[in-house]
Amino acid sequence: MNPAGLELNHVGKVRDTYNHLDVADLLVIVATDRISAFDVVMSDGVLDKGRVLSAMSSFWFERFSGQVKSQSYPKDEIRLEIESQADYPSAWVGRTSFVRRAEMFPVECVVRGYLAGSGLKDYQETKKLFGIEQPPGLRLGSRLSEPVFTPTSKAESGHDEPLSMDEVYGLVGHEVGDELERLSKELFLKAEAACFGAGIVLADTKFEFGIIDGEIALCDEVLTPDSSRFWEASSVALWNPVQFDKQILRDWLEETGWNKMPPPPQLPVSVLASLTVVYSDIYERLTGLALDDWPGEHSSSAYLGERDMSF
Ligand SMILES: Nc1ncnc2c1ncn2[C@@H]1O[C@H](COP(=O)(O)OP(=O)(O)OP(=O)(O)O)[C@@H](O)[C@H]1O
Ligand SMILES: [Mg+2]
Repeated sequence: MNPAGLELNHVGKVRDTYNHLDVADLLVIVATDRISAFDVVMSDGVLDKGRVLSAMSSFWFERFSGQVKSQSYPKDEIRLEIESQADYPSAWVGRTSFVRRAEMFPVECVVRGYLAGSGLKDYQETKKLFGIEQPPGLRLGSRLSEPVFTPTSKAESGHDEPLSMDEVYGLVGHEVGDELERLSKELFLKAEAACFGAGIVLADTKFEFGIIDGEIALCDEVLTPDSSRFWEASSVALWNPVQFDKQILRDWLEETGWNKMPPPPQLPVSVLASLTVVYSDIYERLTGLALDDWPGEHSSSAYLGERDMSF
C-alpha cells in the first residue's frame, strides 16, 4: 500500500517507483529486497538488500556531485512531509530515494575495466569486446588497457542487447552519445580509484542518465552490487576473483541447470543469507560506514514491494 498522495508509476525488477499527485517533478523510488538474475526476478528476497542499494547509491551520488548533475531532489520539505504521514510504510524507511523525474535515455551505459561476464563471453567468441579491438590472451580478470564503454539497450522486457556507437547516436544523437561515453568513463575511473583504496577492484558497472532541466543528469542507482562487479583486489592477482556481488546467485543458478525462464527455482536459505552478508559487507568496506547507521531496521522478512511474485 502506498502512502496517500503517491500513485504507483512503474514496477521494475528491483525498484517500485511512485508519482506524487501534486508534485510533478518528484519521483519516489523504493528499492525493494527483490533480486534478479539473467533478467528474471527471483521469488525470494534478500534481507536488507533494498537498504544497501539505497545507502550505496546515496554515497556515490554525493561523491560524484562535483562531476555530474544528480537526480537528488533539492527540496527536503516534501520528503519530510511524506515521511511523516501516518501511512508511510515502515519498510520504506532506508529503502526510499526522493529524486527528480528525468527523461531517461534508452541506453544503459556499461563501462568495463576488467574482462568478465558477457564481455568475457564476447571476447572468447570474437577476440574483440563488442566490436572493439583487444589484444590476444585475455581471460577472466584481465585488466583492459583502458576502460571500455559497451552500451546496451534498455529492453522493456527480456534481455538488454549490446549497442554499437552508431546505434547509440541513432537513439540519442551524436553529441549526447559522446557525452554519455565520456561521463561514464570519467565516473568509472573516479570510482575505480576509490574502490581500490578499499582493497576492491571495480571490474565493471552500469550507469543510467537522463535529462533534468535540459541537462544530462546521473539517475537510477549508482555503483551498487546489482549494477557492478566488485572483486577482492588480492584475489584478482591470483586469477580467481572473489566477488562481492550477485555472482554467487548466478553461479548457484547455473549449477541447478535452470533454463533461465520463469518460474525461477526457489533459493536455498544459505544462498540468500550469503547474499545479505555480501551486499552489506561491500557497502561497509567501500564507504567505511555501518549499515546499522543507515535508516531503517534489519528485518526478519524481505520487503518484496508491488511485484506479483506468483508464477
Ligand atoms: N530519475 C529518474 N527519473 C525517471 N526514471 C528513473 C529515474 N531513475 C531511475 N529511473 C527508472 O526507474 C526504474 C527503476 O526500476 P528498476 O531498476 O527495478 O528497473 P529495471 O528492472 O532495471 O528496468 P525496467 O524499467 O526495464 O523494469 C528504471 O526503469 C529506471 O530507468
Ligand atoms: Mg534497473
